[in-house]
Amino acid sequence: MGSTQEVLFVDGITKIFGNPKSEHSVLALNEISFSINSGANSILGPNGAGKSTLLKVLLGYIGATSGDAQVLGFDIFKEGKQIRERVGYMPEHYTLIPGVNAVKQVSLLGRIAGLPKAEAMQRSHETLQYVGLDEARYRKVNEFSTGMLQRLKLAQALVNDPVLIFLDEPTNGLDPKGRIDMIALIREISKDHGIDIIVCSHLLPDIEAMCDYATILNRGEVVTQGSISELTGQESLSQEQKVMNVRIKGNLEEFLIGLKENGLQFRVEDKIVKVDFSDEHINQKIIEIAYKTGVQIRTMIPRKVILEDVFIHRIEDDVDNSNVSQPSGGK
Ligand SMILES: Nc1ncnc2c1ncn2[C@@H]1O[C@H](COP(=O)(O)OP(=O)(O)OP(=O)(O)O)[C@@H](O)[C@H]1O
Ligand SMILES: [Mg+2]
Repeated sequence: MGSTQEVLFVDGITKIFGNPKSEHSVLALNEISFSINSGANSILGPNGAGKSTLLKVLLGYIGATSGDAQVLGFDIFKEGKQIRERVGYMPEHYTLIPGVNAVKQVSLLGRIAGLPKAEAMQRSHETLQYVGLDEARYRKVNEFSTGMLQRLKLAQALVNDPVLIFLDEPTNGLDPKGRIDMIALIREISKDHGIDIIVCSHLLPDIEAMCDYATILNRGEVVTQGSISELTGQESLSQEQKVMNVRIKGNLEEFLIGLKENGLQFRVEDKIVKVDFSDEHINQKIIEIAYKTGVQIRTMIPRKVILEDVFIHRIEDDVDNSNVSQPSGGK
């Protein structure tokens, strides 16, 4: 624990579903390259970004169209067995074995991951207890609630005593308490047990609660990567302020022109003007611009940038760029 060893190395991975020559094919991963070091990591992106596809490609459950990748230094094409022995996987969807109880289900998955029978059974009991399904161990899995199924999938991810776990949308479908419990469990696995994690999610607050690093994926491409504090800009801030949320009364357009002319960066969301903190005199500058452009400031509230802002920014940039560079349709 604590070392900055590389756990994932992705080199130009492309995944196309369907016949690449067909117009119906889907480009799910577009020659992506990045690496991830040990620690609490995440892959963040909206629906359809390619997160689940990437995990399945890395585990060898589906083949990549081209490119190379290594997980824990093992080649995904030649050493899938070694990878699946060492990596835990909490899938997005569940493949339940009908009529089978939880102990049996988890131990079967342990055996698939390469554990001998007795050990798989013992680990199954231990992991079910760890995730809080002790009492439900002998109940049939097809009768489980969504919350119980998420825990069952986590037990499955832990059964082979992994050094790295891929968690695909672990908080999906959970009620508020279930979600808090799941986040606490995953934090404990990562922080107390020192197991490296890569959590895929589109839920930004959950990622902020569980992870230290994020790789942001959108439409099959890596948009940006960094520590969450870096991405949110908090590292370089002494105060918790990075964006000033301004509500005005009057001519919004004039006010925005005023901001632009004074070199201030901003964007508008739900009639709130979000002005980037350029310097410590920002309040005064905004007040002057309002005065000059004849608008009235109703509220002006500083707010730290949360990852969500970065996320939306980058994705907007991405969309803008693709509009420019793809005059004839493309993706
Ligand atoms: N088996 C498949 N056949 C065809 N297209 C697929 C298949 N699986 C995924 N796709 C497509 O690949 C793209 C990426 O899907 P993927 O499930 O990896 O996204 P995701 O980031 O996990 O999204 P979500 O947040 O909804 O889980 C989507 O356009 C999806 O429709
Ligand atoms: Mg997914």
